[in-house]
Amino acid sequence: MFLTTVFKGLYLSNMHRYIAIFASGTGSNAKKIVEHFKHNQDITVSLIVSNKADAPVLDMARENDIPTLVIDRTYFYQTENILFFFNKFSIDFVVLAGFLWLVPRYLVQAFENRMVNIHPALLPKYGGKGMYGMRVHEAVKKAGETETGITIHFVNDHYDDGDIVFQAKCSVSPSDQPEDIAQKIHRLEHRHFPEVIEKLLQKV
Ligand code: GAR
Repeated sequence: MFLTTVFKGLYLSNMHRYIAIFASGTGSNAKKIVEHFKHNQDITVSLIVSNKADAPVLDMARENDIPTLVIDRTYFYQTENILFFFNKFSIDFVVLAGFLWLVPRYLVQAFENRMVNIHPALLPKYGGKGMYGMRVHEAVKKAGETETGITIHFVNDHYDDGDIVFQAKCSVSPSDQPEDIAQKIHRLEHRHFPEVIEKLLQKV
């Protein structure tokens, strides 16, 4: 009986998956992911990391009793201390949801194929250093695109460059302003990102 309980406990703990989310801003994607997994027995968002101490995403984390970590450049790029933190929280999978810093190689290597980013365009178009948020939508508008979309991709040590896991498109009409495009993109992100993460976690 005792052994069965022990083995069952081990089995369950091995099955459980823990996610860390990196976000720098509003955190609407992070919020959707937290809500999506809130009642999931096997998956927990157990840490939210930000490079901005006043980022609204940190308030959302606190409201949901999720531990937070605020990092600066020295901590992130000159030490590997975050790996100890991740170990403490048993992190299996890392999600970048509006996080704009390049991920250092030690972290990419530690989470190879276990770290994804969401980008608000159809990569390889409108990606790379300096292409984020409204800048992307402004560029899409300026180019007169008739469609845009979202890309979820594995993270490597270049901006917006890892293998693509998922893309979804939406139309852009001539009257759409960058703000309208941003809204369409957020709708797509909120609909798909949590589900794609859940599917990927089944393979981790
Ligand atoms: C999202 O649209 C995401 O695709 C984008 O930042 C936004 C964050 O929104 N990421 C990038 O541009 C990365 N290059 P959120 O804070 O409301 O989730």
